[in-house]
Amino acid sequence: QKARAAGGSAFSFTEVEAGVDADHHVAEGYDADILLRWGDALFSDSPVFDPKNQSAAAQSRQFGYNNDYVGYIPIDGSSQHGILVVNHEYTNPHLMFPGLVTIADGKIKQAKLSKEEVDIEMAAHGGTIVEIRKADGKWQVVPDGKYNRRITAVTETELTGPVAGHERVKTSADTTGTKVIGTFNNCAGGVTPWGTYIMAEENFHGYFSGELPADHKEAANHKRYGVPEGAYEWADFYDRFNVAKEPNEPSRFGWIVEVDVLDPTSTPKKRSALGRTKHEGAASIVDKDGRVVFYLGDDERFDYVYKFVTSGTYTANDRTANMNLLDEGTLYVAKFTEDGTLQWLPIVHGQGPLKAENGFASQADVLIETRRAADLLGATKMDRPEDIEPNAVNGKVYVMLTNNTKRKPEQVDAANPRADNAFGHIIEITEDGGAFGATSGKWEVLLKCGDPAVADVGASFSTETTKNGWFGMPDNCSIDAAGRLWVATDGNNNKATGRTDGLWAVDTEGDARATSKLFYRVPVGAELCGPLFLPDDQTAFVAVQHPGDGGDDWSGHGRPSYYEDLSTRWPDFKDDMPVRPAVVAITKVGGGKIAV
Ligand code: FEO
Ligand code: CA
Ligand code: CA
Ligand code: CA
Repeated sequence: QKARAAGGSAFSFTEVEAGVDADHHVAEGYDADILLRWGDALFSDSPVFDPKNQSAAAQSRQFGYNNDYVGYIPIDGSSQHGILVVNHEYTNPHLMFPGLVTIADGKIKQAKLSKEEVDIEMAAHGGTIVEIRKADGKWQVVPDGKYNRRITAVTETELTGPVAGHERVKTSADTTGTKVIGTFNNCAGGVTPWGTYIMAEENFHGYFSGELPADHKEAANHKRYGVPEGAYEWADFYDRFNVAKEPNEPSRFGWIVEVDVLDPTSTPKKRSALGRTKHEGAASIVDKDGRVVFYLGDDERFDYVYKFVTSGTYTANDRTANMNLLDEGTLYVAKFTEDGTLQWLPIVHGQGPLKAENGFASQADVLIETRRAADLLGATKMDRPEDIEPNAVNGKVYVMLTNNTKRKPEQVDAANPRADNAFGHIIEITEDGGAFGATSGKWEVLLKCGDPAVADVGASFSTETTKNGWFGMPDNCSIDAAGRLWVATDGNNNKATGRTDGLWAVDTEGDARATSKLFYRVPVGAELCGPLFLPDDQTAFVAVQHPGDGGDDWSGHGRPSYYEDLSTRWPDFKDDMPVRPAVVAITKVGGGKIAV
């Protein structure tokens, strides 16, 4: 164990100054190199990215939009050669399509999308699987690598597990209830111990439009998930996104998707046993008894923390034996009690309220309406559960809770201790008996986020934390090989504080506990996703999402278009290139482990 730096922190690096400008910034002594940008080629037949003449055919052979989860599957155990998996969560048409947005008399107008533009959006969603290699200390994409693949909103997937073939997931195009076209809004995810890629389907409600009669048998189900939100225009061209025409289609989304990356022709599997929610991600760990435990956040205000424990056990060195582990197991939802204990409540048909009298005829019904099942079980309503990561080194589990400004004073509880929670918090769970598969545990709040200099905020960073080191809105996180916690934020950027999203190193042990330091920050308008430390701790990959977006009115006119936005042209800084989401590789200058 390496000696700790001054103040007891496990991290030794010079903090980045908080601030905001057109570029990204990493701590001194580190390189932050662009690895993959929206539109980059993955295959030798990928058309060169031409943003003014983009097509769906080109996009489906290029790196997609708004990179979120980043995972790595080593080849032969290497931290220098492996398969990178990246989710493409959503699209920003105003930043993608030239001329879509016009501004006249200070008013912003966004035109309707054409069918080709909708098809480009569909091809820009999903995920990328790509072989990468480190040569002379720098990462490179291997073009035409034998695993290289794009998964999109039109890739055929298979629904497996208890919901497969159920009447409620059959549609006019799929009378089997097993063949689902596409996966989208893949936010965070995971890599399983057996080396498959997990894509979590999150805000699927946005893609559906139309209206169902209030007395339709799926109306209440849809309402609980906010379906249809109508944020996308896909229903204009594809009936399956119109709930009036295909009322069962939304129930085919909101699942955990597993992809066998070693076979580029494999059909991605929607693993229904893990429940249907707005899944943030699915980080996993092998328990002492060999069962595999997946931690699952449902990212919505007042929704829940879940975990799934496989029935079968993990077999090392026999990949095939593990390939259907995700079809059988127990899904649990968390109840955090005031005394600092935690119960994992099983979501099992026939147990407690999950019976026919409440409209659940089978486990398939329970899983399709996972949220309602958890409501009836009395789970704890949380402040937007995002990434949840088990820590193999210290045995704890870290839960990122982004924020919840809708929580009223009378709704405060010990696990969600602030009303109007604008900055979020982090909970640390200790499972009973040191077993990740346990059905009870203990918990405490590691950190209440926000500016410690503003007393009303009630933040709990250590006094060692500088004005650069505090953050709000924890979203994604990574545990490095040394067991240290790194947190990426979503929404920490605002004009009032002159800050951006970024990557923070957070101490969890000893006197330095709850000390945070800024390691990397994103360009204006962006949010940080991904973070991933490779097994040798010598590379951190981060995903810069929606750079230049005007969500917080940075440009002065709210939603800057491809042409109008002057705030940044990251990462190319060329007049004929739009801003581009990109995956960045962070390494130490001259090599070596990061921040030790
Ligand atoms: Fe896609 Fe929960 O963030
Ligand atoms: Ca978030
Ligand atoms: Ca997220
Ligand atoms: Ca995010």
